[in-house]
Parts: sequence; structure tokens; C-alpha cells
Amino acid sequence: MRIHPRRAVTLGIVICTVLVILFNLYYMDEWKPGVQQRPWGSDFDQGKPLKQVLQPFHEHVIREDIDANNHKGGDDKAEPPKHRSHFQIANYTYGEKYGEFTSKECGGRLGDCIKDHHIRDPNPPIWPADVPNGDRIVTQLGLVPDSVRRPAAERPIKKIIAYNGLGNWAKRGRQTLIDQNCPVTECDISDDRSKAAQADALLFQHSLAQPFHKRPPGQIWAVYFLESPYHTPGLTRFANQFNWTSTYRHDSDIVAPYEKFVPYNVSQLTKPQNKNYAAGKTKKVAWFVSNCGARNNRKQYAEELGKYIEVDIYGSCGVKKCPRSQSGKCFDMLDNDYKFYLSFENSNCRDYITEKFYVNGLGHNVIPIVMGAHPDDYKRVGPPRSFIHVDEFANPEALAKYLHKLDQDDNLYNEYFQWKGTGEFINTYWWCRMCSMVHAVDSEYYKPKFYSDVEKWWRGPDVCIGSGKWI
Ligand SMILES: *[C@@H]1O[C@H](CO)[C@@H](O)[C@H](O)[C@H]1NC(C)=O
Ligand SMILES: *[C@@H]1O[C@H](CO)[C@@H](O)[C@H](O)[C@H]1NC(C)=O
Ligand SMILES: *[C@@H]1O[C@H](CO)[C@@H](O)[C@H](O)[C@H]1NC(C)=O
Repeated sequence: MRIHPRRAVTLGIVICTVLVILFNLYYMDEWKPGVQQRPWGSDFDQGKPLKQVLQPFHEHVIREDIDANNHKGGDDKAEPPKHRSHFQIANYTYGEKYGEFTSKECGGRLGDCIKDHHIRDPNPPIWPADVPNGDRIVTQLGLVPDSVRRPAAERPIKKIIAYNGLGNWAKRGRQTLIDQNCPVTECDISDDRSKAAQADALLFQHSLAQPFHKRPPGQIWAVYFLESPYHTPGLTRFANQFNWTSTYRHDSDIVAPYEKFVPYNVSQLTKPQNKNYAAGKTKKVAWFVSNCGARNNRKQYAEELGKYIEVDIYGSCGVKKCPRSQSGKCFDMLDNDYKFYLSFENSNCRDYITEKFYVNGLGHNVIPIVMGAHPDDYKRVGPPRSFIHVDEFANPEALAKYLHKLDQDDNLYNEYFQWKGTGEFINTYWWCRMCSMVHAVDSEYYKPKFYSDVEKWWRGPDVCIGSGKWI
């Protein structure tokens, strides 16, 4: 029997396609995230807003949303605090416990101020169990464990290996810690796998492979994820192995948020604004998005909303265009023309709140309409009355009705901006905290810990809800 060459080619293509599909299905849980971001925190507090925050880890990675590298930041720059500052974590007041700092020291660089204020408490609340509803970032920032409180020559150096490479995340050695003026700089950072057996801590970011070396007793294994459980590899194989987690989740050991807002004074969470945020705005809702498909059906929601209120979708999913090369101008439109912005995440998962909320939304003079994490999660991290959650409304039509109400009532609209100037988005100095925490293991108060079922912790039944509603 002779097969026609054209048929043979077609057959070949079909077989290859099937193989590729099967391969991908098989390795589904190993798919790498499309977008990675480092939790450096913003440099809102260093006068160079947004640039570092939005810098992707891999240069070839295209940010899902419009690139805001050129944005100049908006005119709502936080005013320096007028009084001494207190920070409260649950019932723990930072200022009282560790001393206070004045506006002169802190104005505009609150994150550095907290970091430079070393805490003296030998057993501060730094672990998830210590503060069940908090991220402990502020405490970790000033942490100087006992083992480091001795002459420099006697301080141990902890070896931390980023098992999947450092990229431009940190310099090798201690330099990053020294550059950032960390409270503890006694950590040797590397990505040399061949030294894994000698490391004090191994860090597994994004992709996971079972290391080959024999794990020495006491070696800390930490998993690091910035993407939602839908876009991170399976962890089932790693039961009883990870000691720590470092993710955007508030109950991670070392929380790596996309941004962190810290109020100057927990008793002053609003401030009269001498500005009408509605003035001169002629447009309603904007959304900058390039990848519309997402499990939470955000595009369908936006389109439905668009039936009842004007929604301008910029990027490849919509009809409006605002070129990336002019991203500064695009974001200026949010400040000047639009009243609302859709800060829609790609996953409805607990605590999954990214720069779409913090930078695109809160970073501009626009009210973010949020979809993604649970409303309680936004309340935990967002300034009070700074956003509208879609789940507060039965459907897009009901939401649109409320937006029209805000649109017609400037006083009501302005209530969403009373938080501006009451605090700062701080740099959370992830590496500083990581180094301090590795030293904290030597403390007499450290209780060895590990996640018996880290897959359940990360991807348990209540963590992500597909396209469902939270409330
Ligand atoms: C914080 O705000 C409260 C209420 O306005 C005020 O009484 C207190 O003095 C402020 N604390 C500091 C440290 O400024
Ligand atoms: C918070 O207050 C409770 C009850 O007063 C106390 O038991 C707990 O230790 C406090 N937590 C912190 C972190 O101070
Ligand atoms: C890390 O986890 C292992 C179990 O995988 C445990 O034996 C060890 O004590 C833990 N170490 C620390 C520092 O928590």
C-alpha cells in the first residue's frame, strides 16, 4: 500500500500535535509561571515610584498588564508623618516596644526607618503562629537575633542557597545585605547547588526538584512562590520537607507581598484631603489588560459591566489602544480622566493581590474595583475604604448602579481617597528578613517546624475558588 506524501505529512503533524498536548498535560503541574516578580517592595518611599516594583525577573517575561516603568508616580505623595510613629501588629505596638522615630528620620522612607530600628525583644512575634492574622513584616524588618548580638568576628555566617538560581535577585555573597544596610548581614547568598550539603538554608523558587545531596540535620528548606496556586508546581512530593514558606500569603513564614502599606499611626487612618479627586474626570471605568483569559472569568465580568457603565478596555483584549511605549501617559489617564480602574487578578485565590491593586489602582487617583482575593484579604492589606470588591454586589449590573451613584456624588466618591497621605508603601527588604530569620533559628525560642502537607496548605480546598464568589 502506498501512502500519498501529503497524507503522510498531515498524519505526521497530527501525531506530533497529539504528543505535544499529551506531554503538556502530563507536566501540567510543572508549568512555569508566566510572570515573576520580586518582593522588593515599592520604592514609593525612595522617590522613584514603580520602577523597581514592576521590573520583571526575566527580561523576556512580558508583564500581563501595561508596563508602567516610565510612570512618574502621581501627586499624592505621602506627606511625612508629623508625629512620632507607632506600628501595631495585632496587639503589639512597634513604637512602644522598640522606641519611636520621628518624621525627620522617616518621612518618605518608612521602610528603611523600620529596618534601621533594630528590635531588642529576644522573642518577638515573627512566626505565623505568633500573630495569626498578621504578616509580621514590620517585626521581621528590625529583627536582630541573639546569635548576632556579639562582636562581628564571632557572628556565624549562614549559607543560603537559591536552588533554582539567583538571576539578578541578589548578588552572590553578602553584598546585597550590605548594600541594603540590613540589620543582619551575616549571610552568604549563592546559587551554587554543588554546595547544597553545606548550606544552612535552601530556597526553592517557583520550580521544584528533589535535591540529590543528603540533607544535613538542621538544614532549612523554604519554598518561594509569587504566583497563585493555579500557576505553581505541585507540592505533593514534598510532604514533611519544607520548614518555611515564603509567598504572598499572610500566613507564610516570610511573607513576600507585592506591596506593603504601613500607616504612620494606626489611630489615624484617614486624613482630610484638600483635593477633589473627581474634578475634571469625564470617563468611567478603565482596564489595562493583555491576557484576558483567566479562570475567574474576569473578562466576561468586565464585558457584562460594560453593558451598564462605560468600561474602556485597553490592550489586546479590548478595542482601546495605549502603547506600552507610552505607559506613563496611559497611567496619567487614570489620574486625570477615569474614575474607576478594574484591578482584576487572574486567579480568585486567598491573599492573591498584586500590583494590579497596589500600583495600577492605589498608586493613582482612581478607585480600584477588585476581583481576586477574598474581601477580608483586601481589608487586611489595603488602606481602609480604598477599594470596591466585586463580591459586595450581586452582579455586574448592581455594581454599575453603585458606580453611577459614586459618579454623581463627589463627596461619596472622595470618601475612597481619605487614606491618602496616612502611610507609605514600604520596601519590605526580603533578603534582609530572610537573613535575620535564618539566624533566628539559633534562638532558644525557635521551635523546629515543617509543613506536613504543604500541598494542602498551598492548594487546599478553600484557597482558590475558580470563577466563584467569596461571599
Ligand atoms: C496617633 O493618633 C492618635 C489619634 O489621633 C493621637 O492621639 C496620637 O497622639 C497619635 N500618635 C502619635 C504617636 O502621633
Ligand atoms: C496579645 O494579647 C493577648 C491577651 O492580652 C496576649 O496573650 C498575647 O500574648 C498578646 N500578643 C502579642 C503578640 O503581644
Ligand atoms: C526542618 O524540617 C525537618 C523535617 O523535614 C525537621 O526535622 C527539622 O527539625 C526542621 N528544621 C528546622 C530548622 O525547623
